[in-house]
Amino acid sequence: MNSVDFINIPQQEPARQEYFMNKCNEYVEEFIIRNGKAPSFYVATFGCQMNARDSEKLTGILERIGYVQAQSEADANFVIYNTCTVRENANMKLYGHLGALKKKKENDKDMMIGICGCMMQQPEVVEHIRTSYKFVDVVFGTFNFYKLAELLYMRLSGDKTQVIEVLDKPEVNVENLPEKKKYNFKSGVNIMYGCNNFCTYCIVPYVRGRERSRTPEDILEEVKKLSEEGFVEIMLLGQNVNSYGINFLGDSAIIDNNPDYSFPDLLEDVCKIDKIKRVRFMTSHPKDLSDKLIDVIARNPKIARHIHLPVQSGSSRVLKAMNRHYTKESYLELVEKIKSRIPDVSLTTDIMVGFPGETEEDFQDTMDVVRKVRYDQAFTFIYSIRTGTPAATMEQVPEDVVNDRFNRLLELVREVSTETSARFEGQTVEVLVECKNDHMDGYVTGRMGHNILVHFPGDEELIGKFVNVKLTEAKGFYYLGEFIND
Ligand code: 5AD
Ligand code: SF4
Repeated sequence: MNSVDFINIPQQEPARQEYFMNKCNEYVEEFIIRNGKAPSFYVATFGCQMNARDSEKLTGILERIGYVQAQSEADANFVIYNTCTVRENANMKLYGHLGALKKKKENDKDMMIGICGCMMQQPEVVEHIRTSYKFVDVVFGTFNFYKLAELLYMRLSGDKTQVIEVLDKPEVNVENLPEKKKYNFKSGVNIMYGCNNFCTYCIVPYVRGRERSRTPEDILEEVKKLSEEGFVEIMLLGQNVNSYGINFLGDSAIIDNNPDYSFPDLLEDVCKIDKIKRVRFMTSHPKDLSDKLIDVIARNPKIARHIHLPVQSGSSRVLKAMNRHYTKESYLELVEKIKSRIPDVSLTTDIMVGFPGETEEDFQDTMDVVRKVRYDQAFTFIYSIRTGTPAATMEQVPEDVVNDRFNRLLELVREVSTETSARFEGQTVEVLVECKNDHMDGYVTGRMGHNILVHFPGDEELIGKFVNVKLTEAKGFYYLGEFIND
């Protein structure tokens, strides 16, 4: 591999990363000569849609360098863990994986390990890896993952055995790098990064930084390009899409001419792109979900009838301690308003039990909200401490009490969502076919606008197409159906 020509390294992104991708490609060429095949990689992704999107970009960079994707981490020469610290305390899991890879690395001098994602934004974690997991090759964070090629090159060309670069805030926003999407008919599109809400239990604002919205021009151009490549479903992504437009990245003529441009306007503009047939969005903070948004969804059939509306707790007292800025009553009013204007809407949520100070009465309020809203699906979490957040130093609820509440909540959620999601049985709905069904021979799996899965006998040629399916049998979280060929 040739050495770096420091004078000629472009200073501007993404040209700088192009330069390093080419340099890493020289390593790949040498690897091929030595081994008779290209090096392989595996990106293991934990956590949310944001991490999944970042992993698509990491994959794109590695393929551009010349790596080929391995089927599992056991077959890969380069394993990257894109970690999560938001949904679960994943530390133990990560260290377990690393322990196993250490052995593999001892027998394979080409083997490399990278770690990135939200966990790496916690200095104590990085320090632990630096001192106790010296065999990890590259460590980077959420603000500089686009620099994978540059960091990999530093590791390959330098004399350091471990390259660590974690930033505490974003430096630049780099969009136009290669990426490899999981599907070629549906895609997530980031509309904003970070979060300003500082819910007292949550680490996101610390590990993903303050809110930054991309300009409408930038987003619409990306969606147009995707539509021309054949993508038909778009999911607009942000930690709180309803506060889209408050802090912008870059210049925007649309905003200059219309300072009130907000998320519903963006949704409508995305729907105007002809070839896009279905538009989704995630996630909505209940405090910011406007009447204007409800109206836009109600009158626009391209927007999926599904709103993910995390409630977290049903107790107004707990919600205040969580810094959520709504009450049990205002949440229920919002739900009623949504249901009356979008009658067949599907509502899903995130619920946490065991937030510090939660009493049985508070917990009963949460159960009451579940009974009243009748969610199609609810993701349930046991509160756990995130170091550095305000709730970490509040008085914790004993573990056995929390576990008991969690089990009762799970049971109720299962009962309610089984009943609720069965309401479409017998109807014929439009389904976007996603994949072959791995468990049922001759079946494919698709998704309704309501975000409910449907399995039905069908040919793989249907993948990526919208088809009509009769929902013959409700199975709790999914349906069995029949392809209606009209
Ligand atoms: N403990 C448990 N669950 C949490 N979540 C966020 N932070 C924590 C925490 N400290 C849950 C919330 C959020 C989802 C993505 O993860 O319910 O909506
Ligand atoms: Fe975390 Fe609250 Fe922001 Fe959601 S809105 S990412 S829970 S701080």
